[in-house]
Amino acid sequence: MTEGRVLAVTGAASGIGRALTEQWVGAGGRAVAVDLAAADFGWATGDPGIEIVRGDVTSPATHAAMVEACVRRFGGLDALALNAGLTAAGSLESLPLEEFDRVLDVNLRGVVLGLRAAIPTLRASTAAAVVVTASVSGLGGDPGMWAYNAAKGGVVNLVRSAAVELASQGVRVNAVCPGPIRTGMTAAIRDAAPAVAAELERHVPLQRWGEAHEVAAVIAFLASPAASFVTGAIVPVDGGVTANSGQFSPPARTGPE
Ligand SMILES: NC(=O)c1ccc[n+]([C@@H]2O[C@H](COP(=O)([O-])OP(=O)(O)OC[C@H]3O[C@@H](n4cnc5c(N)ncnc54)[C@H](O)[C@@H]3O)[C@@H](O)[C@H]2O)c1
Repeated sequence: MTEGRVLAVTGAASGIGRALTEQWVGAGGRAVAVDLAAADFGWATGDPGIEIVRGDVTSPATHAAMVEACVRRFGGLDALALNAGLTAAGSLESLPLEEFDRVLDVNLRGVVLGLRAAIPTLRASTAAAVVVTASVSGLGGDPGMWAYNAAKGGVVNLVRSAAVELASQGVRVNAVCPGPIRTGMTAAIRDAAPAVAAELERHVPLQRWGEAHEVAAVIAFLASPAASFVTGAIVPVDGGVTANSGQFSPPARTGPE
């Protein structure tokens, strides 16, 4: 289902974006991988199935370069994974407004810019799909993460709106909502605050952190023609976090390790 299809991925150098790019190209697809100038793309360099584009997703020029690379190198664009993101921690009163602006710019405005740039080229594909990486933090609140909650909440409803608007044009739009995933974004919690990391894990019914490849697999499915009747879906990839009402902690693990 991926064979020969061209995917553009933002935030592709590490974590979920890297896992997705590797899975896609490993399954016979081709990918344009977008990330910041300083990002480490050592793992992708020289791979004939991957074209690297460096830039910031808050700039329209980055998305223009991404689409141009898809057309020039691979002849078109079939699927788009708008995955670049970052978070910021701080109370409503203390987080500098500049950090709030940056979180909104990257996580929400960056998705708008990506959609605008890619839609005309996606329309030419016979099976076009967009998948946006939102978060369980877009479905509810977290202490000290209001800026990220606001941005990802905006992304969730943007995806619904885009799905409704673009369905008649043959472009499906869906979102994944990861729970706690073991990537660079969450490394500081595991390294510097093991008690918080353990508490987070206790709130996951599956009783563990998720891995980047487990989110990438769901994105790859939604981006493929196998998901041809799925649009506007907000899909949790969270080990059961959002299935829990929050009134009780899920039971501790009892099965085999
Ligand atoms: N890790 C988690 O627990 C978790 C949970 C829910 C949602 N997410 C979301 O998953 C997505 C991927 O994050 P990840 O966990 O793989 O983290 P990550 O930090 O490993 O990857 C994020 C990538 O985005 C890139 N990036 C950041 N700002 C950018 C910008 N302005 N322009 C271009 N690239 C930029 C980074 O350089 C990095 O390579 C993000 O949208 C994040 O919000 C992650």
